[in-house]
Order: sequence, then C-alpha cells, then structure tokens
Amino acid sequence: MSETKNIMDYETVALDENGPAVVILDQTRLPGRTELIRLTTAQQIWEAIYLLKVRGAPAIGVAAAFGMYVLSEGIETEDYDVFLKEFQKQKEYLDSARPTAVNLSWALKRMEQVVLSNRDKSVEQLRSLLRREAIAIKEEDIRVCRAIGEYGLTLVQPGDGILTHCNAGQLATSKYGTATAPIYLGQEKGYHFRVFADETRPLLQGARLTAYELHSAGVDVTLICDNMSAMVMKNGWVNAVFVGCDRVAANGDTANKIGTSVVAAVAKRYNVPVYICAPTSTIDLETATGAEIHIEQRPAEEVTEMWYRERMAPEGVKVFNPAFDVTDHDLIAGIVTEYGIAREPYTESLREIFRKKQEAQASEL
Ligand code: MRU
Repeated sequence: MSETKNIMDYETVALDENGPAVVILDQTRLPGRTELIRLTTAQQIWEAIYLLKVRGAPAIGVAAAFGMYVLSEGIETEDYDVFLKEFQKQKEYLDSARPTAVNLSWALKRMEQVVLSNRDKSVEQLRSLLRREAIAIKEEDIRVCRAIGEYGLTLVQPGDGILTHCNAGQLATSKYGTATAPIYLGQEKGYHFRVFADETRPLLQGARLTAYELHSAGVDVTLICDNMSAMVMKNGWVNAVFVGCDRVAANGDTANKIGTSVVAAVAKRYNVPVYICAPTSTIDLETATGAEIHIEQRPAEEVTEMWYRERMAPEGVKVFNPAFDVTDHDLIAGIVTEYGIAREPYTESLREIFRKKQEAQASEL
C-alpha cells in the first residue's frame, strides 16, 4: 500500500482490467494490512464470500456478479445449452456461500437472466453482455447508496449523534455505504455528526471496518463495545440509529448483523429512532416475515478464539454463533430506500416503494 493512499481510495470490488479476474480488498486483513487479491476460480470466489474477505450485502452481490462474468470466460464451448448448464452450475455453487443476504441470489439471478433472455446470441456475445450487466450492477449500487444517503440525511440535524452497528459502510458497498451514506453526505455539506460505532462481536466489523473507514474519512467517530450502546443512549448522545440490512421481509422485519435487534430494543427504551438503510435489492417481498429468514450459523471458533492470542473459552463448551438476527418491524422507525422512506405499515409502504421503482424503470426505457 502506498503511504499516502487512504482506505477510502480503494475499490471494495473491481474487475481486473488485465484479464478476467475479480479483484477484492481483503477485509479480513483490515485495518492492519491493505491487500488486494485476485479471484479467478469458482472456489476462490466462494471462499472469499464465505470467509468474509468480501462482505456486506451489496458488495457480496457485486462480487458474485463479477464472479459469474469471470467464470463465463472459462466455460469453453460455443454451444448455448452446454454454456447455460455450466453457467447455472457455477451460479448455484456461488449462491451457497452465504444464505442470509438476499443480494447474493438477487445479483446471481440478474446475471442468469442475461443468459436466459439472449438464447439467440453467440457465447462470445453472452460473455460481453454478462460483463456489461455486472458493471451495471456495480454502478447502480453507487447511485442507490447515494440516494439512500440523501433520504437518510433528511432524518437528522447537523451536530447529531448517530449510532451504527456492524459495517454498512463503503467497505460493504461500491461507494458511500448504506447506513454511512447519510454520514458521508452530511460531511460533504459540513454537518458535524458524532458517530458511535459498535465494535460488533464476534467478527469486529464495527471496530476493524466502520471505525477505520469513518476515521480515515475524517468523520468524528467513537468506538464502543456492543454492551455500551445503552449507556451512550441513556446519556442522550444518540439522536438516531442507522444500520444496514441483509434481508428485509415484506412486513418490515429486518435481518442484519447479530446484535442489531438488541440495539433496536435499547433504542426503543430511550426513544431513539432506528432507521434501516435498505437498497431495494435487499428487500425480499417474497419473504412474508422475519420468521422465514434463514439465519446463517458460523463456526464456534469465531467466538472462542479468533482475534485472541489464546483461546478465551473452555475447550468443548457449547457455542451459539448466529451471524444475523431479526429486528421486529415495530422497533423500526423507517426503512430508507433509494426510492424514499417506508414507514409502518410496511406491508403497504414497501409495496409502494416497489411501485415507484417500476415507474422509474419504465420511464428510463
Ligand atoms: O457478515 P457481514 O459482515 O457480511 O454482515 C454485514 C451486515 O450485517 C451489514 O449490515 C449488511 O450486510 C448491510 S451492508 C450495506
């Protein structure tokens, strides 16, 4: 890493210009080391997603989309049916890397649709259309995050205290982040937010990533342990909570990083509004309620020994390590999307958001 380059100058996920490869910033190394890695095989891409080298719902979607383009370059056939079969096999494999963030299957379906709706094209043409679609998914992500930032900014005042959990920042997206987008846009306007970043056990995305990127960007950020949010809220230091999400159900129940529902329950106690920053790609109207969301379980070692110089739990102890929890919709003050802010009742307001999206897309054609 060049000494002068700021972490904010790096791309979370990119396509290698020198040949078919996905280039990611290895987030498991941050903040200590800034390493870019090239992914060229399905197994490398799968592992990068599973091991959280690339993570955050939108970034996973972009990585999977670039991944499918890269893998399509390696499918050696001129026959459409053979190409489709192999493409779908690789797609299913990548889709199995992480179950909760809907953006993964959303982006993979979009890529598959390119192949399915261009049966008349040559394999060479299909590859070039896939490349174009993956780039479009990334560019959309930037526009969507900025729009979420603009809507989110209407919910806070200059000087406000904002608490966030996990990392729904630039490192989790292509730019701006979702939960951090109002913070970065506020900074552009000279607002002086005071941000509290939960460290986010067990994988420390808040400490390693959110505190790092906000601090590097010059935002006033204070790192707290997860069990301190009640105290900072009780002290009156927090005016709003902004968090990201991995899947929003049709009724507004929201899966996000484990611990989010605790923050929301505490925020309710202290009358602090909780806003979920959600690209429509993370809203899953086919999932009726949070009870239907598949919550990823992760290895016990993440809790017992990872990050510690020596193991910090007795050998053989039972460990429960869900990566996400569901915040009930009645704890959520609003869901901030790129098409506006949805409020209770979410079953209606989220459908209205999708109606706006359809209208916007129709007028673009
Ligand atoms: O396990 P992670 O680090 O991928 O979890 C990430 C989160 O929970 C984020 O809040 C969510 O994906 C939104 S990122 C804009």
